[in-house]
Amino acid sequence: MSLAFKVITSFSSIFTGTYSALESIISSPNQGTDPQQDHAFQPPTSTDKRSPCPMVNALANHNYLPRDGSNISLLKLIQAAKEGINLAPDATLIVGLKALQTSTTGGWFTFNLDDLNKHGVIEHDASLSRKDVFFGDNHSFSPEVWATVSKHFQGLEKIPLEVAAKARKERVEAAKASNPEFNLTVDHARFSVLETCLYLMVFGEGTQGNARTDWVRVLFEKERLPFQEGFKRSDKMLTLADILELHKKVEAASLE
Ligand code: HEM
Repeated sequence: MSLAFKVITSFSSIFTGTYSALESIISSPNQGTDPQQDHAFQPPTSTDKRSPCPMVNALANHNYLPRDGSNISLLKLIQAAKEGINLAPDATLIVGLKALQTSTTGGWFTFNLDDLNKHGVIEHDASLSRKDVFFGDNHSFSPEVWATVSKHFQGLEKIPLEVAAKARKERVEAAKASNPEFNLTVDHARFSVLETCLYLMVFGEGTQGNARTDWVRVLFEKERLPFQEGFKRSDKMLTLADILELHKKVEAASLE
């Protein structure tokens, strides 16, 4: 067998394997695993890797993703997002493919959670709960930044999408005013809106917004899924189509 043929057949078996694994994730029964048994919350140890994303950190803190935050494949990410929050594989892929661009693992199909700190791939200025890279730490939760955003949710049981849009927009304006090297490309601005849509979608009412304020706070402040506050992963898969519909609404509300 020629070398070229060997390379082609081994690539094709990787893809066939990945495809059939994906198919089985998509068609698997719509059930979460028992959060108490297999997925109890444990904060990270000092050697566990974490990212600027409260959700992937929470998935690791609940062992949907490996607790050490290392060597995560796209397939593992898709599986974790499906099991933990019933996010559709196509939605996870949008961010997951970008995540691979940050990889330092030495393998092109895995990444470590702290690889996501790399500025300018997914990580961007004007995060809702992190400082801009200009100020030295773009990945740790910042109570000061989060306070400027979460003050908009004060006294609300649920966060309407208009309020979420306003909180994000004001955060962008504040970052612009305080950071002399502020930069938010069109692409990153879209991701920033997407992140708002993701928390609205996971903790809200489909494409209507109205995320439970206490659940959103637990995600950001504790990097934990709010099971003990009554959160249950959606019975209906959270599709990319729904997220994009919400994206249009949040963008429109941001223009008001
Ligand atoms: C599954 C693959 C995912 C990857 C690789 C990923 C990665 C990231 C990264 C790198 C950031 C930092 C962006 C920045 O603010 O500079 C981020 C932010 C964020 N992600 Fe994710 N994410 C994923 C899924 C999700 C999901 C499913 C949610 C659902 C709630 C989510 C919620 C958020 C939120 C709310 C932020 C904004 C944090 C902030 O601005 O302080 N992410 N994500």
